[in-house]
Amino acid sequence: MGIRSRFMIIMAIIFGIATVGIGTASYMFSKRNALLEAKSKGELIFNYILATRTFYSKKQRPLIMEVFEEDRFYPELMSGFVITRGIFDDFKKNLSGYNFKQATLDPLYPPNKADEWETKLIAMFAGQPELETHEGTMERDGETFFYLAKPMKVSGKDCLRCHGDVNDAPKDQVEIYGSTNGYNWKDGDTVAAYVVYVSVETALANAKKGAITLYLIGAGCLLIALIGIWLFMDRFVVNPIVRLSIKAEEISLGKNLEESVGIKQNDEIGALAGAIERLRMSMVRILKR
Ligand code: HEC
Repeated sequence: MGIRSRFMIIMAIIFGIATVGIGTASYMFSKRNALLEAKSKGELIFNYILATRTFYSKKQRPLIMEVFEEDRFYPELMSGFVITRGIFDDFKKNLSGYNFKQATLDPLYPPNKADEWETKLIAMFAGQPELETHEGTMERDGETFFYLAKPMKVSGKDCLRCHGDVNDAPKDQVEIYGSTNGYNWKDGDTVAAYVVYVSVETALANAKKGAITLYLIGAGCLLIALIGIWLFMDRFVVNPIVRLSIKAEEISLGKNLEESVGIKQNDEIGALAGAIERLRMSMVRILKR
């Protein structure tokens, strides 16, 4: 294999590795940033939801309950869950890519029913009572989401008045939600989890696009560099060496001795050409004598 081919192969390998390395690193960084951004957005939304919830249950609800009779129940006024769900449904209309669910094993309101993945999440919280929050990524219908979750436990009479024995529940509630689901919960049980979902699909797709662009630019540069190296090697290395070897061959045979070497380069090959030129002149002198 010629010098040029060998050199080209080495350069192609080095450039190839560099391109793949840079593209892959860029993808990993973008992916990490996408997840970090999703996390901070998720935390923002989650904390806001929890804050509205706390304000409602500490400040508003006691006043509301004073106004109405014990047995009356207006979900939009008296249930933090209804309020949170209603506000988030409106919020979602203007901002896609976010979701919030009060995922529950056996809910009063059917859309709150935990799906298979959420059921496992709730079981995990039930199995690790010290766990206050949990976060990570998950896939649903081929889409990747960052999620943040918080368990919800039944805390005595506060909850069992409405989620315990159906006969004790406010009549209005039974009328609205029926009497089959959302009752007979047990004190201390982990029955539900708040879960915020933030889609990272667009960000991940952008990260992929960025990496592919880098690969393509790298491949283009590689091609241009290889063509440049090829031309340079041809002009300054391979051609002169071929000519010099022919010339040296001729000198050894005593042929074409009148014709000078004719290569003037300011480098190692130029030095070699100079030496062969001096060899030719010595040969000419010796033969003349
Ligand atoms: C005054 C009655 C009442 C009380 C007290 C009450 N809830 Fe509820 N709860 C409801 C109603 C009504 C809903 C349905 C909300 C909706 O329509 O989204 C609900 C919904 C929920 C949900 C969402 C799943 C579902 O059933 O739709 C969870 C979880 C929940 N409650 C837990 C609790 C916990 C824990 C407590 C105690 C800290 C509690 N609730 C106290 C009436 C009550």
